[in-house]
Parts: sequence; structure tokens; C-alpha cells
Amino acid sequence: MPPQVRLHQIFDWDSPQQNARLRRELAAGLLQKPASIAPKFFYDKLGSRLFEAITELPEYYPTRTEAAIFVEHLPAIRQVLGQDFTLIDLGCGSCGKAGRLFHAGVLPSRYVAVDISVDFMRDSLQQLKRELPAIEMTGIGLDFTHELELPDDIPLQRRMFFYPGSSIGNFSPPEAGRFLRGLADRLDASGGLLIGVDLIKDSAVLDAAYDDALGVTAAFNRNLLRHVNARLDADFEIGDWKHVAFYNATDARIEMHLEARRALTVGWRDSAGRSVRRFAAGERIHTENSHKYSPEGFTALLASAGFADVRMWTDRSEWFALFFARRA
Ligand code: AVJ
Repeated sequence: MPPQVRLHQIFDWDSPQQNARLRRELAAGLLQKPASIAPKFFYDKLGSRLFEAITELPEYYPTRTEAAIFVEHLPAIRQVLGQDFTLIDLGCGSCGKAGRLFHAGVLPSRYVAVDISVDFMRDSLQQLKRELPAIEMTGIGLDFTHELELPDDIPLQRRMFFYPGSSIGNFSPPEAGRFLRGLADRLDASGGLLIGVDLIKDSAVLDAAYDDALGVTAAFNRNLLRHVNARLDADFEIGDWKHVAFYNATDARIEMHLEARRALTVGWRDSAGRSVRRFAAGERIHTENSHKYSPEGFTALLASAGFADVRMWTDRSEWFALFFARRA
């Protein structure tokens, strides 16, 4: 018998209404100048696997640096989380970060895994449940960048939102502030937020982390087009598009783009029949921003979003920071 995890599928590509909304969102981005596709569309099943591979690359320091902060500051982290809490993991992916915490003995009474990549999340959660059957586990297929409504059976008391890996960096700072405010609104005084944030550092380190020698990040970026082809009935030729990633110091963010290697036309099916967008050689589609913060900058953002009692832990080179805060 498969282990018993409860599943809620709120995000669903097969729901006609959501499908129409997502297709409209994708098409609108492709028609913009410059064109853009939101990073949430990276995560089809292969995209989730490619991201897991990224976390193992020598150049991609965030995952292992964050894990080391957890190991080094485990007693303090255990103390702020307390006992008998519900851990709500936003963008759980493979559930690896939560799993490492549990195996280190930081055990919630209930684990709620939230991810847009529904099948990948379900498989990962069932595997984790096999390893840790004593923890009650719930999976929620949800596009939490679109809506943050949690099912009624997730208790409000002793809720701990867990948002590791610096996924908050995908939002611009004002958007991040609004998102954090939404989290604060869904906490009571007994809860908190445990969040990982990538810090501003030497641009060579950042550039390498998002343009690795093996080309895994390039594959992750270009896989987006495979996913869009499938979802939008589009005809992107993957080979026509080049991975471009660089640190933009003015906006303190890594930008990822896909650049057309030649002049080309992309078409997709829509309610009107078929739409096309022409791209000149060298024209780009903006696919991701990954914002970096200073410790002071992120502390201020938390405060402005309705959080207080902010604690921060970092690694020795201050490449990454882990914050814990409560609702003000
Ligand atoms: C999952 C958003 C945290 O921004 O570092 C990794 C995604 N993109 N390499 C990040 C990503 C390219 C990652 N986040």
C-alpha cells in the first residue's frame, strides 16, 4: 500500500478555466516587448529534475551554503521553531530541504508540501512519508505566486512557513514585500517564517552559478521552451535559442534570458486560431530574475511586510542568509 499522504490539487493544467488563464498569461508574455515567460513555467517534471541537478553543481553554491547554515545553527533553529508545529514548505520541489531538517531531528507534527509541479511533488512527498511515517503529510498542488489560499484543514496555530533556497528572489523587491505581507496575514502570534535569502556578492561568483560549465542551467532554461510547446501548442525550436545569464548590479539580480540565434517566427494556438511573434536575431525572452539582498535590506523588507523579532544566520563568507521572523 502507498503511504498515506493527503493531496489537494488546486493548481491544475487540466482544469479548462485554469488552462485558459495560463495560456493567456503565456501568450501575453510572448507578445510583450521584450518578451517574457514567468519562471514558474520552468517546472514541468523534467524542469524540476533539472533544478535538482543544478543544486549539485559545484558553481551553484546556494543549496549547499544554506544546508551548511542549517547544520551550524541547528540548536537555535530548533529553538525558534519549538514543538508541535506545522511546517508549510513553499515550493518544496523534491522535499530535500525539509527532509534534511527532519533527518537532523527537527520534526514538525505535520508537514505541508506546496508546489506547482504537482506530479513531482506527489512522488517526492510519498517517498518522504515512507522514510518518516510518524509525520502527518499533506501535499498541495498550488501556484502560490498566483494565490495563497490554503485548504481549511491546515491549522492556523503554530504554522511555520518554510521558504528556503532564495526562491523569494524570483519576485522584485516590491512584489516580494507584498508576498511576505500575504504570509504574515496567514499567521497568528504562535507561527513564523523561516526563509532563505541569497546575498549580494562578487559578480563572478554569481555569473558562474547561473551559467555553469556543464550546461545544466542552460538546459534548465531552454527546457522552458519544451514545456511551453506542450502547454501552448507552440513551435519553438530549442536549438534556435541560446542561454544567457548575467548579474545586473544596478538591480541586484541575476537575469536569465533566451536569445534567438537567428531571425525566426514562433507560433502557437490560441482562441483566435493561431498567433505568431517574430524575433530578430539576438532578440531575447526574459525568463527569470533572481534578486540578491544585503542582510540589512532583507531585514527591512521583512519589517515593512509586517514581521518582527527577526533573527538571521549566515555562513562565514556571508554568501547566503537564513531568516526567522514572527508576525508583528
Ligand atoms: C529556485 C528561484 C531559487 O534563483 O537560484 C537556479 C532558480 N535558476 N538556476 C535561483 C535557478 C537558475 C533558483 N530558485
